[in-house]
Amino acid sequence: MLEQDIERVLFTEEELKQRVKEIAQRIDADYAGKEPLLISVLRGSFVFMADLVREITLPCTVDFMAVSSYGGGTTSSGQVKIVKDLSEQIEGKDVLVVEDILDSGNTLSYLLKLLEARHPASIRLCTLLDKPERRTKPVAVQYTGFTIPDEFVVGYGLDYDEKYRNLPYIGILKPRVYGGE
Ligand code: IMP
Ligand code: MG
Repeated sequence: MLEQDIERVLFTEEELKQRVKEIAQRIDADYAGKEPLLISVLRGSFVFMADLVREITLPCTVDFMAVSSYGGGTTSSGQVKIVKDLSEQIEGKDVLVVEDILDSGNTLSYLLKLLEARHPASIRLCTLLDKPERRTKPVAVQYTGFTIPDEFVVGYGLDYDEKYRNLPYIGILKPRVYGGE
């Protein structure tokens, strides 16, 4: 059972739902009259993205990109690889990048630079979670769900070794699962 590997629940399903709704309302207000293109950074953000778009009432489009920066462990390797690129051009579009978690900033600083070079009309970042203590590369973020301490979390799309993404809440993983205490 996945449950047994969770030390503590950080955000319940209800708390996540409420916060996602609040973020969607801000996006609705900020992009009024526009048609944002939401780019989900796979795989971690797929659950957040699915819930977020269903709370947004503006016309919007979606696209997906997959990058990998972590191996099987819990810290970034610093190397970012594009595993799947976007299906559409983003030139002239109002792009909103949707991420699960902003940690060292490696992944997003690389990704944002790459997307900016494609000349979108605007580009903003929306992350469900932010772990500012671990930042080594500065990244400007316009929409943040929750700021969290330096703990390894899973669920609601976030994984450890590709598992736990299907937990409906966000929890702190027991360190023994990844070989800690
Ligand atoms: P960064 O490049 O260090 O900012 O890492 C960003 C990526 O690392 C995220 O998209 C996640 O896939 C992964 N990551 C960072 N912290 C966690 C965590 O606590 N749980 C699960 N994945 C994480
Ligand atoms: Mg991951």
